[in-house]
Amino acid sequence: MEISLVLIVLVLCSTAATLVTCSSAGFHMELTHVDSKGGYTAAERVQRAMASSRQRLASFVDVTVPVHWNTSQYIAEYMIGTPPQRAEALIDTGSDLIWTQCSTCKQCVKQGQPLYNASKSETFHAVSCNDTLCLANQEHSCRRDGSCNFGALYGAGDASGTIDTEVFAFQNGSARLTFGCVESLMIYPGSLDEASGLIGLGRGPLSLVSQASASKFSYCHTPYLRSNATAGASSHLFVGASASLSGGSPVMSMSFVQGPKEYPFYYVPLVGISVGQTRLSIPPTVFALKEDGTSGGVIIDSGSPTTALAEKAYAPLREELRRQLNGSLVPPPADSEMDLCVAVAQEKKVPSMVLHFSGGADMVLPPENYWVPLDSSTSCMVMDTSNDMSIIGNFQLQNIHLLYDLAKDELSFQTADCSKL
Ligand SMILES: *[C@@H]1O[C@H](CO)[C@@H](O)[C@H](O)[C@H]1NC(C)=O
Ligand SMILES: *[C@@H]1O[C@H](CO)[C@@H](O)[C@H](O)[C@H]1NC(C)=O
Ligand SMILES: *[C@@H]1O[C@H](CO)[C@@H](O)[C@H](O)[C@H]1NC(C)=O
Ligand SMILES: *[C@@H]1O[C@H](CO)[C@@H](O)[C@H](O)[C@H]1NC(C)=O
Ligand SMILES: *[C@@H]1O[C@H](CO)[C@@H](O)[C@H](O)[C@H]1NC(C)=O
Ligand SMILES: *[C@@H]1O[C@H](CO)[C@@H](O)[C@H](O)[C@H]1NC(C)=O
Repeated sequence: MEISLVLIVLVLCSTAATLVTCSSAGFHMELTHVDSKGGYTAAERVQRAMASSRQRLASFVDVTVPVHWNTSQYIAEYMIGTPPQRAEALIDTGSDLIWTQCSTCKQCVKQGQPLYNASKSETFHAVSCNDTLCLANQEHSCRRDGSCNFGALYGAGDASGTIDTEVFAFQNGSARLTFGCVESLMIYPGSLDEASGLIGLGRGPLSLVSQASASKFSYCHTPYLRSNATAGASSHLFVGASASLSGGSPVMSMSFVQGPKEYPFYYVPLVGISVGQTRLSIPPTVFALKEDGTSGGVIIDSGSPTTALAEKAYAPLREELRRQLNGSLVPPPADSEMDLCVAVAQEKKVPSMVLHFSGGADMVLPPENYWVPLDSSTSCMVMDTSNDMSIIGNFQLQNIHLLYDLAKDELSFQTADCSKL
């Protein structure tokens, strides 16, 4: 289990030419095409189109989706079609589209559930290639029969197929949603963790939150390892009214940082990092969106297994940990790409880390949120470097309940036992 985690964590994509770095197998979108093709106007059109169809979605105001930890990703369970077919998806705050591999697949990856077969469903509808729902995709074209062909690029690879609508049923709510029926998927092996697709939760019009007109959502990831709540432990994604933080540990909040409108990302105002009692010396500009407005910044991304920090933040972090763990550090296992390791018996010497956000919100990451036992003898830091945007990924957010309040444009969080939510 540890091995597969590490493989995924350490994948480095070679996408130097793109705007967004890709330092893990995260499913955040690449944005190469957005600027030049004016994707946002299409997005605006869709938002308007969807406002007029809200009535159709009116019953879909509050949805609970069970999410379980598998071997490297958190997987949400839902049903698609009539009669319903089982499907499983990664939940991804770094992209928008909902998609699942279809039985018409020419090139797909192995998944745990049978492929969704549109011919077996009475509620499948193709979307015309002139429809705003088709135009909202960055890459779209007409098939000979007038249906909508789409393509989407992710850090881990790319997906293409048709845009259609179907009835989706979650634990306690259902609605007709626009989705991608994927016929070709070329991704880094293992990055889907045998789920059948993705549920995008980004800011764009085709995400689950946008299609549901939800003003908030929350999720809380159960621990990867070292508790009874490992493989199979489940928690929930809450979309709509049931998304809320509750009593118990203190709640901290921050305003999201305004990013480029056409990007799906949730930018957060990270301003500093402490290790133990020591505040690292990192110029705040390291975490800021660059002047071009489209690179740099820090996003929170549930499609990225782990966190990747801009080099100018990672280097001081590494230095300070080396200083504090002096005497306890051991060389990383030969075939691993880990950077800092200690003997498992020395793990208790690893200090907590604090992510400081503007406005005073401090997120404390206990050692188990950034170190992992690779084998029975060695425990290593699970953090990565990024050459542009910094990404806060899932490993660092274990047992932290995150509430995305889109109406207030705020992110709130509190520590929690996620398996109890
Ligand atoms: C999809 O369902 C149809 C209708 O039941 C069936 O004929 C077809 O073989 C199925 N396709 C696959 C790939 O299983
Ligand atoms: C979870 O992992 C196991 C292998 O450990 C695999 O067989 C299964 O299909 C995976 N996927 C899901 C979605 O649970
Ligand atoms: C889409 O619009 C174009 C231009 O208006 C038209 O020629 C074409 O027939 C339309 N296609 C479909 C499938 O409606
Ligand atoms: C795991 O479960 C056992 C028995 O149910 C319990 O005694 C133990 O405290 C649990 N450990 C953790 C880390 O929750
Ligand atoms: C769905 O579940 C949540 C939490 O369990 C509950 O608050 C909500 O009312 C339910 N919604 C529907 C439509 O049943
Ligand atoms: C680590 O500790 C040794 C011995 O205590 C000392 O000589 C060395 O300078 C220390 N290194 C750092 C980087 O603090």
